[in-house]
Amino acid sequence: MTRTVYVNGEYLPEGEAKVSIFDRGFLFADAVYEVTSVLDGKLIDFEGHAVRLDRSLKELDMASPCSKEELLEIHRKLVELNGIEEGLVYLQVSRGSDGDRDFVFPSADTPPSLVLFTQNKPGLADSPAAAKGAKIISIEDIRWGRRDIKTVQLLYPSMGKMMAKKAGADDAWLIEDGYVTEGTSNNAYYVKNGKIVTRPLSNDILHGITRAAVLRLAAEAQMEIEERLFTIEEAKDADEAFTTSASAFVMPVVEIDGVTLGDGTPGPIAKRLREIYLEESRKKAV
Ligand code: PDD
Repeated sequence: MTRTVYVNGEYLPEGEAKVSIFDRGFLFADAVYEVTSVLDGKLIDFEGHAVRLDRSLKELDMASPCSKEELLEIHRKLVELNGIEEGLVYLQVSRGSDGDRDFVFPSADTPPSLVLFTQNKPGLADSPAAAKGAKIISIEDIRWGRRDIKTVQLLYPSMGKMMAKKAGADDAWLIEDGYVTEGTSNNAYYVKNGKIVTRPLSNDILHGITRAAVLRLAAEAQMEIEERLFTIEEAKDADEAFTTSASAFVMPVVEIDGVTLGDGTPGPIAKRLREIYLEESRKKAV
């Protein structure tokens, strides 16, 4: 089925949507993005994604393409036009183009490009991958120093995912100065003796919207949480581990660098957090 996508004010069949070859997102990765999940045809945590988008834009001195209300309307219309019950909405804002390639930013009145499209993912919530749990490998984190800004510079995360696939695993966790930063496209956690350990927020990791919700729900469920730096060795020695992201919610991790965690099946805390997160998110979806 041909998707209807959104580009700069227009809803078009995907094959007809066009952005300039001079667009700075294309030439310089000068663009930011958000991925919002859809369950029961409704948006999960739209507010959180809208607030983070605004922050990413401000950090890069990029103009906002439209108001939050307009963004919500575009998201909803795309979900409806494409009949999405479970899936994702991808949004990208680039600095646009003034019709040439130049390292210097174009003048501030150059309109940003706004592109959105949906991805239909039936079974996203009831995922066989989550029932099985993920195998991860660790690799060096050689990304830039502002990972808190959600830019489209995703070549290294993409390479990391390929390294994982080549090693027979599902994903990679990134290591910097001996400590785990995060996953290629998710935040990373381990659980030992009932305590959830995850890296604190800083410029070193993306401030996950799912992370914020899951930590809040974990605290409400009286689970113990410690936000501190941790090594991959600690994670390998854990009872269980998991990742969080808008595209996979809470994903149990069952193996790290070939070491099986627990009995090699998703751990009780990861499973419980996935359940609570899905239940609460569905209630608050818009
Ligand atoms: N990735 N860390 C990184 C590096 C990410 O790319 C993501 C999200 C996260 C989790 O953030 P959130 O909970 O807000 O989705 C953490 C998205 C899903 C992606 O690139 O597809």
